[in-house]
Amino acid sequence: MNDLTNKVAYITGGSKGIGFGIAKKLLSSGMRVAISSRNKDAAKKAASDLSDDSKKILAIESDVSLMKDEQNAVEKIMNHFGQLDVLVANAGVGHFAAIDELTEKDWKETIDTNLTGVFNSVKASIDPLKKSKGYIITIASLAGANFFETASAYNASKFGLVGFTQAIMLDLRKYGIKVTTIMPGSVTSYFNNHEPNDADAWKIQPEDIGQIVDDLLHMHPRTLPSKIEVRPSMPAK
Ligand SMILES: NC(=O)c1ccc[n+]([C@@H]2O[C@H](COP(=O)([O-])OP(=O)(O)OC[C@H]3O[C@@H](n4cnc5c(N)ncnc54)[C@H](OP(=O)(O)O)[C@@H]3O)[C@@H](O)[C@H]2O)c1
Repeated sequence: MNDLTNKVAYITGGSKGIGFGIAKKLLSSGMRVAISSRNKDAAKKAASDLSDDSKKILAIESDVSLMKDEQNAVEKIMNHFGQLDVLVANAGVGHFAAIDELTEKDWKETIDTNLTGVFNSVKASIDPLKKSKGYIITIASLAGANFFETASAYNASKFGLVGFTQAIMLDLRKYGIKVTTIMPGSVTSYFNNHEPNDADAWKIQPEDIGQIVDDLLHMHPRTLPSKIEVRPSMPAK
């Protein structure tokens, strides 16, 4: 995909944090972008912060944990832009508690969003991506390879997501669809009710993940970096 001009990306959970950073970068590379959020106003506000050109940006209200929402989202994208070239399955949540404290509600929300949500976004996008010989990028986490205390739900969702993404990479490359999972360490965002602040300067910034996505889309078509671990170059002070 050497020239990204007017290609169309759907970024789930693009209303803030990493997804917003990816949207900004892809727009600057000439792409048209749809972003989603569970909250209509949040999606609209983020879209208008990103661009005032409705030919370039589309705000979508969708909960990735619901297949119907994701089917509607892709239908809206096809009606608005007429094509879909890139899915960035980014929407995710984190609930952290030791297993004896972890609630069933938080377990379910984590798995339904971070794992089943990606399944829903991918299933809804497959047909247009087959047509465009497109690209699927999932945002997993280093927590998809390393486990830690209080992270049973998050670890389960992200270990699952890494496995899911690698398996569909093998399923889909014969159609010319590329699939990559990005596994970031600490990124400055609103994740888990965090408020970005000056002390986050050591972390990866959302635009750095945007740059990785942009680099992947520019990769020579014969080559596929299928799994990328990325971490802050210096540890927290
Ligand atoms: N920040 C980190 O250090 C870090 C590290 C590794 C991986 N990640 C992963 O990066 C991804 C993005 O997280 P972030 O750090 O950017 O967090 P964030 O700032 O909290 O942003 C999360 C985004 O996902 C959306 N979202 C959450 N649940 C959703 C749902 N069910 N349907 C649709 N959208 C939903 C949120 O919008 P609404 O709340 O308005 O719906 C928001 O736009 C997640 O998958 C996370 O696990 C983050």
